[in-house]
Amino acid sequence: MRGLQSPRYIPPAMKPACSYAATHAASLADPGAFWLAQAHHLHWDTRPTEPLSQDANGTYRWFRGGELNTSFLCLDYHVQNGRADQPALLYDSPVTHTQRTYTYAELLDMTARFAGGLREIGVGLGDRVIIYMPNTPEAVVAMLACARLGAVHSVVFGGFAAHELAVRIDDAQPRAIVCASGGVEFDRVIPYKPLVDEAIAQAAFKPAHVVVFQRDFVTAELQPGRDLDYQELLRAAPVPAVPVPATHPLYILYTSGTTGRPKGVVRDHGGHAVALHFSMRAIYAMEPGDVIFTGSDIGWAVGSSYIVYGPLLRGCTTVLFEGKPVRTPDAGTFWRIVEQYRVRVMFTAPTAIRAIKKEDPEGLLAKKYDLSSLRHLFLAGERCDPATYQWAQHLLGVPVVDHWWQTESGWPMLATLVGLEGMPAPRAGSAGHPVPGYDVHILDEAGHPVPPGTTGLVAVKLPLPPGCFPTLWNDDARYQAYLSTFPGYYLSGDGGYRDHEGYTYIMGRVDDVINVAGHRLSTGEIEEILAAHPAVAECAVLGIADPLRGQVPVGLVVLKDGQTIGEEALEKELIAAVRAQIGALACFRAVLVVKRLPKTRSGKILRKTLRQLADGETFPMPPTIDDPLILDEIRAGLQRRSIGAAFETNPAA
Ligand code: COA
Ligand code: AMP
Repeated sequence: MRGLQSPRYIPPAMKPACSYAATHAASLADPGAFWLAQAHHLHWDTRPTEPLSQDANGTYRWFRGGELNTSFLCLDYHVQNGRADQPALLYDSPVTHTQRTYTYAELLDMTARFAGGLREIGVGLGDRVIIYMPNTPEAVVAMLACARLGAVHSVVFGGFAAHELAVRIDDAQPRAIVCASGGVEFDRVIPYKPLVDEAIAQAAFKPAHVVVFQRDFVTAELQPGRDLDYQELLRAAPVPAVPVPATHPLYILYTSGTTGRPKGVVRDHGGHAVALHFSMRAIYAMEPGDVIFTGSDIGWAVGSSYIVYGPLLRGCTTVLFEGKPVRTPDAGTFWRIVEQYRVRVMFTAPTAIRAIKKEDPEGLLAKKYDLSSLRHLFLAGERCDPATYQWAQHLLGVPVVDHWWQTESGWPMLATLVGLEGMPAPRAGSAGHPVPGYDVHILDEAGHPVPPGTTGLVAVKLPLPPGCFPTLWNDDARYQAYLSTFPGYYLSGDGGYRDHEGYTYIMGRVDDVINVAGHRLSTGEIEEILAAHPAVAECAVLGIADPLRGQVPVGLVVLKDGQTIGEEALEKELIAAVRAQIGALACFRAVLVVKRLPKTRSGKILRKTLRQLADGETFPMPPTIDDPLILDEIRAGLQRRSIGAAFETNPAA
């Protein structure tokens, strides 16, 4: 075990900025050598012996033989190397009227103590800890404290309902849950603890402890014996970081697949640290001491990687924002943050920009602030429509970079890398070019490359670079499913194309995953909830276009014979069921009762055709449709209820 005062480690001198083309080519020509060189920028307790190796089942693993600790790299390393008094975290919470600065020394002290507290309640190497908290410093400390002990955290987004939390408890089997007593949504207090209690009641697995961070606007009741006060754990003696193998899991982050069961994406210590550190330099051009503001939630991959780990690994200052881009208190809140903290790089989802644009179309609020520190705005999480892209670029006067990634990758796969030379400029509608380490291909259904300009399936040639998921928690079979369609490739689930100049465009999912306000949801999971209603014979859930959230889910249901429940009453019950089981974040707000669902002659529901119908796209009549007339009936229903882009604004369409 390493003490808090371990000897200073000076990494080898960094190379000057390199060209994008040479860097990308080098990363594919010899991935092991390329990433080993990047790994040397970090402190290792034991240097890795094998940069890249394969498990017996063929899974690639990075940096075997190496030992390190992510919490040490994020905190102790910087404190020991002159950054003790530099702000590490700027907490800005307009919803609780709080602003606080934490230096690297302060964040280390809190983390080391909280880790001590976790250890006292029995959390050790490999134990899981679920974190169910809003964007608060206490949540970040909990993440880093788990990492310090070699425990595996799993942050669950606060918008998920008790049932979703219960599913994650049963899968991760955590020794403890760390939660807040509540959060704030605009001006509404959301108590979290009753949801945690309900989730534990529903789950078959029972965690030994619940650690509650009591917020001053809502007090949670503590169950004697099981529940503990967060502050009590903070009073423990500090503990040092435990060196762990590079392949040891750092965290599990659940994300939606195509079924009701979420996938537990696993991230390891070594690959994750190397990849994020590289990305901070190469993609975001962030130097130690620079300020980054990522407007996301720590419960999403974007938040985990670029609110917490990436900035701290690089010795930057990160803004932790608890609020919304609008109405907290207004659509100028993001621009106020840029001015107040002299933010260099800002990163958020296109939905956030659309929300700001809706409330302040002329960008008058932005003009109130000095945005001169801002170098780039990065966008990800969903496709960025060119209109939103242009609006942001015009407003801010800095390059806007749309970049593509997934929870599975944990860091961008396509981007404009502003830290490398010779990079083609970003372009509206495109997510840019492959990031070093990623060999991105567009394939047809048979797995052959398609010519430029042709839409196909977006796949990445193996090996995936460090930082990408080496497996799914408790479910390696499902992990292998990503790799089995086209041997030698990771299939992303997205469709897209590459133009003649090499820009890649990601056009949306080709499976049953939808993206609602940058939140990834499974239509299959919503369908399972609708199908469980006693009146429902069968159903289809579609993600239809929405001007603010990108997509929203809509349910089409067929009643069982003899059912007389009215459409309105059924809609209410189904909306309540989805809110109760998934959470309000699903934005499930419309149900249409139909006589039949359009199917192929072999019985497959024509979901794509339904979505195109609702979105007002022209489409050829599917040759295999069993009953073409049903589409007219559904069109009339959508029109009657004003559901879908085609029928909302122009009911005559
Ligand atoms: N805890 C509890 N409830 C939550 C929640 C949380 N953390 N997050 C969202 N919800 C609830 C909301 O209160 C809302 O409930 P309601 O239906 O009772 O009003 C519902 O879930 C839908 O939330 P949302 O879609 O976020 O709508 P909104 O009106 O609250 O905010 C935006 C709209 C566009 C401002 C917001 O979605 C946003 O900031 N999006 C950016 C997304 C983002 O950062 N994604 C990260 C990926 S990079
Ligand atoms: P998540 O795992 O929640 O990050 O969601 C990943 C999905 O979001 C991807 O599979 C894409 O469908 C979508 N996505 C993320 N970034 C982009 C982008 N820049 N352009 C288009 N789609 C994106």
